[in-house]
Amino acid sequence: MAGILLTLCRFVSRPTATLVRPMSDQPIAAVILAAGKGTRMKSARPKVLHEIAGKPLIGHLLAAIEQLGAAQCAIVVGPNMDSITQAVSPVPTVLQKDQLGTADALKAARSVLSDFTKGTVLVVFGDTPFIAPNTLAAMVAEREAGATVVVLGFEPDDPAAYGRLVTDQTGALQAIVEFSDADDQVRKVGLCNSGVMAIDASCLFDLVDQITNDNAKGEYYLTDIVTTARRQDLSCRVILAQEAELLGINLRSELAAAEAAWQNRARQAAMESGVTLQDPQTVYFSWDTVLGQDITIGQNVVFGPKVAVQDDVTIKAFSHMEGCVIRRGAVIGPYARLRPGADIGEDARIGNFVEVKNATFGAGAKANHLSYVGDATVGDRANIGAGTITCTYDGYLKHQTVIGVEAFIGSNSALVAPVTIGERATVGAGSTITRNVPADALSLARGDQRDLPGMAAKLRSRLKARKEAMKKS
Ligand code: UD1
Ligand code: MG
Repeated sequence: MAGILLTLCRFVSRPTATLVRPMSDQPIAAVILAAGKGTRMKSARPKVLHEIAGKPLIGHLLAAIEQLGAAQCAIVVGPNMDSITQAVSPVPTVLQKDQLGTADALKAARSVLSDFTKGTVLVVFGDTPFIAPNTLAAMVAEREAGATVVVLGFEPDDPAAYGRLVTDQTGALQAIVEFSDADDQVRKVGLCNSGVMAIDASCLFDLVDQITNDNAKGEYYLTDIVTTARRQDLSCRVILAQEAELLGINLRSELAAAEAAWQNRARQAAMESGVTLQDPQTVYFSWDTVLGQDITIGQNVVFGPKVAVQDDVTIKAFSHMEGCVIRRGAVIGPYARLRPGADIGEDARIGNFVEVKNATFGAGAKANHLSYVGDATVGDRANIGAGTITCTYDGYLKHQTVIGVEAFIGSNSALVAPVTIGERATVGAGSTITRNVPADALSLARGDQRDLPGMAAKLRSRLKARKEAMKKS
């Protein structure tokens, strides 16, 4: 399959194991600061565990760092954030007891970085998930070229309350001034601090230990590392990035905007790799959706996590999928629901209002209308009629249904599992099947039909007479 992997960090169309940075013998460590309370999210969940495209913010960042080939990574968390520790395992977390500022947060990672005295330490914020590995690689390259501190800057439409980057005529960075400490002159500077830094590991903690909290907020600002380094005549540089990459999330509305931005890029990537989206704005991908080529996706289609779609598949409008594989040439929907464990075979058909869960459909098998097929194996070219239900659950345990190759299940049948329908067997419409059906057998499990000639007319006149008698009395 010519697959594409839609990730938040890379909006390119194909998965690749290639390194995003040239060979270098200098190692990289990354520290993600995530101890802030994220109060404005109004959530019991730590901010970095909120999701974009089904993956936590911090997961997107970790993926970017992994692609960069960082030798080490640590996440700084605050008290009562064990859920982050669990979510990111085996990446270690370290505790910053009190939130005294970004420089203090970095100090909390000292124990993890004690042996890391050569190379580059990258500092990123946990709530800024869109940074591309290539941008981080450019920062590391600039650091390795001789800078002590490299800061990622951007020029937002509205510089708002961002820290400002003060540079000299040569473009070298002289200071970062926090908005609350900036005078009018500095506030006019349009070049802002994203918060992302690449710092020379050999002098990182020497510099950080010199930072004081003598500022408007009384916090230990990591941004002061620039003036600290400049006092020792160490070089500080700026690398520029697009604002879109530095979208930070503080509010639910910003989370929604980030999701929308991610989805737009994913749609674009899908189309560029040979997928037709009939109304792109209404198709929603997951971070791990894998798509082949020449797929057509209709309107209002939602991909939950872990969906892989092979070449030449058609997914019609209003279908919902998660945890499933759709093989070459299959046609899904409209209004189909594929749940975890659905494996739809080549050229198979899953039609309107059909729900499939933990079930394998063989090549060319069909369930075209109004059915539930769960915990089942459906043989090649089997045909499942409208309204067929696999009755899998007895209230305590789930049981399997096996439908043989080329079997035909008549409409409105209930297959009470565990049960096997033999190859090429036919089940008559309206049957409730409770025992195995042999191969090539016709199985009818429904009440016999009885016709009473003229009885309908007699019944009508009897009922009419009774109604009139009731009106008179
Ligand atoms: C920071 C920068 C500012 C920059 C802005 C970009 C500093 C001093 N300021 O400001 O120049 O323009 O980001 O968004 O760095 N954190 C901890 N422990 C703490 C404090 C913060 O782990 O004690 C973490 C937060 O969880 C967050 C990150 O550090 O992930 C940044 O903290 P935040 O309070 O958002 O800094 P800003 O005021 O936005
Ligand atoms: Mg912030």
